[in-house]
Amino acid sequence: MKKLLIPAVLIIVMVFSNCSSSKKSASPAYSGPVTVTYDANVLPIIQSHCAPCHTNGKGMRAALNEYDVAKGRIDNIIHRISLQQGQMGFMPKKHDRLPDSLIQVFVDWKAQGVVEKK
Ligand code: HEC
Repeated sequence: MKKLLIPAVLIIVMVFSNCSSSKKSASPAYSGPVTVTYDANVLPIIQSHCAPCHTNGKGMRAALNEYDVAKGRIDNIIHRISLQQGQMGFMPKKHDRLPDSLIQVFVDWKAQGVVEKK
């Protein structure tokens, strides 16, 4: 039992720290080289994995195929796609979890200042 308790506590702590950070605004200060941009790297993932639910004109879901919308939600996006399949709030809803390499694109996009294009 003890063996299970420690990872369980760690997961709970991680989930909660993610939740609180998801409210902060994006645009971290960053002055290094930019390799990840919305147009070149982020939008193609949204079009292939988040459509049609999050593309314009489809109901009430955030239109993540618009730069400003995606930028304003980057913390929540990273939180949602980092969850495990089946956890409440997991994205992409009803689909397989993104491979880590694609999740990393969103993390890097944020770290590099949520740039739109080069
Ligand atoms: C099958 C439809 C579907 C797909 C595919 C999908 N979502 Fe969602 N998404 C939803 C629904 C429905 C909600 C609202 C309910 C909720 O918040 O869980 C939502 C809510 C969200 C939210 C929080 C609400 C907001 O407006 O900010 C984020 C962030 C999000 N999705 C990101 C994504 C990302 C990123 C992808 C692609 C990797 C994705 N979703 C794929 C249906 C989908």
